Amino acid sequence: CGIVGVIGKANTTEILLNGLEKLAYRGYDSAGIYVNSRTGHDYLVKEPGKISVLEAAVGPEVQGTIGVGHTRWATHGIASRDNAHPHVSEDGRFYLVHNGVLTNYLVLKETYLKDVHFVSQTDTEVAVQLIAYLAKTEQLSAKEAFRKALTLIEGSYAFVMVDRDDPDTLYVAKNKAPLLIGVGDGFNVVCSDALAMLSETKDFIEIHDREMVVLTKDDVQIEDLDGTFIHRNSYHIEMDADAAGKGAYPHYMLKEIDEQPAVMRRLLDEYLDADGQLNISPELLQAMNAADRLYIVAAGTSYHAGLIGKTLFESLVQKPVEVHVASEFGYHMPLLSEKPFFIFLTQSGETADSRQVLVQTNALHYPSLTITNSQGSTLSREADYTLLLHAGPEIAVASTKAYTAQIAVELFLAVALGRHNQLVLAEQFDVHHELGLVATGMEALLSEKEQIETLTTDYLQTTRNAFYIGRGEDYALSLEAALKLKEISYIQAEGFAAGELKHGTIALIEAGTPVIAFLVDEKTIAHTRGNLQEVTARGAQALTIVSERFAQEGDQVILPSVNPLLTPLLGVIPGQLIAYYASLHRGYDVDQPRNLAKSVTVE
Ligand code: G6P
Repeated sequence: CGIVGVIGKANTTEILLNGLEKLAYRGYDSAGIYVNSRTGHDYLVKEPGKISVLEAAVGPEVQGTIGVGHTRWATHGIASRDNAHPHVSEDGRFYLVHNGVLTNYLVLKETYLKDVHFVSQTDTEVAVQLIAYLAKTEQLSAKEAFRKALTLIEGSYAFVMVDRDDPDTLYVAKNKAPLLIGVGDGFNVVCSDALAMLSETKDFIEIHDREMVVLTKDDVQIEDLDGTFIHRNSYHIEMDADAAGKGAYPHYMLKEIDEQPAVMRRLLDEYLDADGQLNISPELLQAMNAADRLYIVAAGTSYHAGLIGKTLFESLVQKPVEVHVASEFGYHMPLLSEKPFFIFLTQSGETADSRQVLVQTNALHYPSLTITNSQGSTLSREADYTLLLHAGPEIAVASTKAYTAQIAVELFLAVALGRHNQLVLAEQFDVHHELGLVATGMEALLSEKEQIETLTTDYLQTTRNAFYIGRGEDYALSLEAALKLKEISYIQAEGFAAGELKHGTIALIEAGTPVIAFLVDEKTIAHTRGNLQEVTARGAQALTIVSERFAQEGDQVILPSVNPLLTPLLGVIPGQLIAYYASLHRGYDVDQPRNLAKSVTVE
């Protein structure tokens, strides 16, 4: 979910709605705002559906100088007006927006709120009713009721609250869900992601877990739950508000796919110094070197980038690597090696599943690195080291440029570590040249989008299911290409180890089932071609994505030749484009597919 709050601005409504649009990537099941004029007028507008539906429902009278807004990704309760935020207490006094999941809300409801009439099925309404209950029964001020509620609440939250009786203050709190204060001259704002408020300010203050903030138009008062004041300086973000715009593109996803060659070149600038040396901190390399095994932990697309990373590290560093899905690892931690080193791959730096693993590895004092696109994000702050992806804001829910940037940063790290150990392969790997070739190859592929569009309409226009197959790196690539297709075109797609297909899943192949094979990994191409024969013999429609030097007559998508270790960086591009065109031609919302959110801050 995404949260915004503003105090001290005349155009509060406009700022809230613009901010919510920027945060739509965090969820878009329903949205709402509460605005108070401080002269006796206030407005609560909530709508199920996308933010455009809310915008249409907000009349010109909805004006004020303090307000909060929310865009929801449903966890408790369906996407309806009643379940949309802000939630209001029964007495009409407190308005609250929330991102996160309260784990003890049923207990709190049972213990304190038996007599309260609830209008929603959300955990958030329990929080706002609890605050009102404490204010009334214990005669507490809004601030003290808010604080007391925070001591009773368990789970994750980012909260922003307005007290209708005294609308000069925003009450803000955070635990395990992202939230930032933005500071202005005569106004202040609060938001889940700085992107939402870049048009108002570039100066932000972090809030840490289990802190609360009393925010007025001129003051930011941070304290812990015991009432100890905390001083924290603001930091300046150098990002253009327009960097988050769509420009002339019809969709963010297409823009972000097209940006990938530029991201590769930007990463070369960021990570290579003038003599072609990789500037990665020696402390980080030493810490990784001291480890006997690397553990990569991630979710979704980042997990798939981790699978490619495993090959890079094992080839260039000769160190064993395990790659784990964060939501599994946290609760079923495998037997670890004696000296593990953890790498968290996360575009947003906020994924709750990954963070809960980092909390555990920190408690065990294991060293860690976060590779993220988001400077100052929670996982970046809490790991020992951070490497940035420099991919620029990624807005489309389906991740594209973050995936290729993650692979490039893993490459830099693997080469630097290999060189640190004087390993020949790493010493001879000319990063600048090889990644430069990748960028050029990407451009060549991107200049032939029409071909992919035609193949997509020919093969995938009406199908309900599809397979991507490959072996080795091509298998890892298949998983990512299939995920892209599922996410935005809703085709049931499976990424499968080509050789394993015949051991059961081949039963699903029918006349016309599209099977797309990656033929990029030299060692396995002949075998995968064999597997392709097996499925075409059973009626499947085969489509091949092949490296130039192994192409045969009849192959469809030809990838420019690059260093074998880097082929996934090119192979993924047709996968991204196939998903894009499948979604487009089926008439779906490419950037905001159903049921998903980009940054999932709940476990
Ligand atoms: C969500 C998104 C995925 C993303 C995953 C991990 O589920 O929908 O696209 O890959 O989170 O996100 P992260 O920010 O940790 O890379």
